[in-house]
Amino acid sequence: MPLLDELRKPALAAALLLIGFSSGNATARAARPWLDASLPPDSRARLAVRAMTTDEKIGLVHGIMAFVTKDHEGRVVPLPPAAIAGSAGYVPGVPRLGIPALYETDASLGVANPLDLRPGDVATALPASLLLAATFDPRLAYAAGALVGAEAHDKGFNVLLGGGMDLTRDPRNGRNFEYLGEDPWLAGVMAGAAVRGTQDQHVISTVKHFALNANETNRLTLDARIDREGLRESDLLAFEIAVERGHPGAVMCAYNKVNGAYSCGNDWLLNEVLKREWGYRGWVMSDWGAVHGVDDALHGLDQESGQQLDPEVWFDAPLRAALARREVPEARLDDMAERILRSIFAVGVVEHPPVKRAIDYRGHAAVALDIARKGIVLLKDAHAVLPLSAGLKRIAVIGGHANLGVLSGGGSSQVMPSNGAPTRIPVGGTGTMEAFRTELYDPSSPLRAIQRAAPSAAITYDPGAYPEAAAAAAAHADVAIVFATRHELEGYDSPGLELPYGQDAVIDAVARANPHTVVVLETGNPVLMPWLDRVPAVLAAWYPGQAGGQAIADVLFGAADPSGRLPITFPRAASDLPRPALPNLGSALGAAVSIDYTEGADVGYRWYAHRGIRPLFAFGHGLSYTRFEYDHIHVTGGKTLGIRFEVRNTGGRAGADVPQVYLTSAAGRPTLRLIGFQRVDLAPGAAREITLTADPRLLGRFDEAGKSWVIPAGTYSLRVGESADELMSGGEAALTGSRIPVTR
Ligand code: BGC
Repeated sequence: MPLLDELRKPALAAALLLIGFSSGNATARAARPWLDASLPPDSRARLAVRAMTTDEKIGLVHGIMAFVTKDHEGRVVPLPPAAIAGSAGYVPGVPRLGIPALYETDASLGVANPLDLRPGDVATALPASLLLAATFDPRLAYAAGALVGAEAHDKGFNVLLGGGMDLTRDPRNGRNFEYLGEDPWLAGVMAGAAVRGTQDQHVISTVKHFALNANETNRLTLDARIDREGLRESDLLAFEIAVERGHPGAVMCAYNKVNGAYSCGNDWLLNEVLKREWGYRGWVMSDWGAVHGVDDALHGLDQESGQQLDPEVWFDAPLRAALARREVPEARLDDMAERILRSIFAVGVVEHPPVKRAIDYRGHAAVALDIARKGIVLLKDAHAVLPLSAGLKRIAVIGGHANLGVLSGGGSSQVMPSNGAPTRIPVGGTGTMEAFRTELYDPSSPLRAIQRAAPSAAITYDPGAYPEAAAAAAAHADVAIVFATRHELEGYDSPGLELPYGQDAVIDAVARANPHTVVVLETGNPVLMPWLDRVPAVLAAWYPGQAGGQAIADVLFGAADPSGRLPITFPRAASDLPRPALPNLGSALGAAVSIDYTEGADVGYRWYAHRGIRPLFAFGHGLSYTRFEYDHIHVTGGKTLGIRFEVRNTGGRAGADVPQVYLTSAAGRPTLRLIGFQRVDLAPGAAREITLTADPRLLGRFDEAGKSWVIPAGTYSLRVGESADELMSGGEAALTGSRIPVTR
């Protein structure tokens, strides 16, 4: 009976049908042993490849963008009927062998549907990944990954192109909102958890863009240059941690070059580091239009994606020709196919195929709200202006289209929200992603949420177009709340750190008119705040997703204690950045440009610390309506560092804290490096003991020649901090010293 019940489940029934289980299953399985789920995925993949023809293997290693496109002669290329029209990618399966097709969708912040290419296909629009990183909560990252995976599965997708995780090296990078901040440990742990969440839904997850896709300007031709040790200790370390914790089925290589070789044809990155040293078993898929020749296969690329964007479908006829000439060994094609199949089997895609069915958007909206509430960062709260009282009489809400909704980031990750039609404001402009240059506001109006939170208040709304009008609206209010936005999107960097469209002047005028001014930022990056001294309270709400308006009001009025912490440093001025001017601004499209990331591993807060520069708001910073204290700190040594301490809520309200532990000196060398963090919810007066053990790689340096992490013997100091520049007490301990080979 239980089996019959199981068989009624559509997913399982479909799976069994697909593998020919329903009749003569034993024979079918014997004939197709790779479908035996009791075998390890490596064996299954090897068995399947052995049964495949060269054509079938070639069919797996390249895929289309699933839109109707024109070929190079201008002829319309129809879509294969099985593809999901308007989705990011499709790779046909091998029905003869029971190998499913790959249905791919972008998914950093929800199941994407950029430009509404699948008309009406909505999904839960989660907050930006940067906001997720600000929660410092891997459990929420898992929940986000699981939510997107589940929705994708119920829409017929089995591969997510989510998992953006390039470290923030430039706070003007237009895609930072899709990533997880500037610290390798935070980004790696959060990405790993999100990948697990997704793959537990039997949907393959991807981490991207491997590697160093840290600026968008001319990304298709950009040469990102850096010293290898620096890269190992920063961006590559983040990917290494994500890969070992999450086991993503796929890694997407980037558009840009790294040290002269395109990422998708970079032998060092793909073959040497990812596959040989880290022992990565999944496949490397290209970014869309990032393949430059058939040789990329030799350099570690396993699959060409979005093939219409390439001048030739390199991994089709040219690959066949190279195989015939023995320039690419057949064994390499086997390996490419085997890696794809291994991920399909490891994630359970065959046994649990995606099935279209209704999605519980109401339930999922609660997750979007929960994440938003926990990732909004209270940057400043002088004179306890916040939380606002529900009994306020007059509130002036100004700017940021707060009457309509909350801004989202643009590009391939754009989600059509499940809770109503978004408002579109076309911005225009040229560039490779010009079709995406439209501001999209998710339908969660902060204005309406504020009205709900303060039902008896008289609330006015001023669009914030003119400083004088905004100031007049603010002058007689008990409190003025100014919303400031900056639209950021894939394919473009912001030229500076300022708020656009004269919003600084509006904020300044409002703050002069009303000392009780609160600024709410909806941006995908840090911004400068020339008005900060006059504004008592500032909230970074990032792009807060489809429940964002509600989450902002909840934090403003104290229904939620602000508990986000900055995953990214807010600088005082562009002159404090490693590259004060945006590199390559104005370069002709497709020009051969480069950036020297001379800061190496000194990314973000490490740059500021090593240069002795005080930022506007430090990495890890974030206020609460209550207070926390750290005590009883005990540091242990030996092979690695451990720390035990107590965190206590000494304020009068319940709240969540994120104590952070920083390495401040390593064998006599001063340094600054986050080695651990823990989010804790505490009732007033309550305390929790936290125990953290450092991943030894965070304590040492990478030795490129010796291919190992070197942790010298000596004394090491740790300090517990509220942020990278508010370090409290700590302790020190001796390490015996070790060398950890990178090869698994
Ligand atoms: C982006 C990728 C995305 C792909 C498919 C590219 O433009 O860089 O992140 O996954 O498009 O939509």
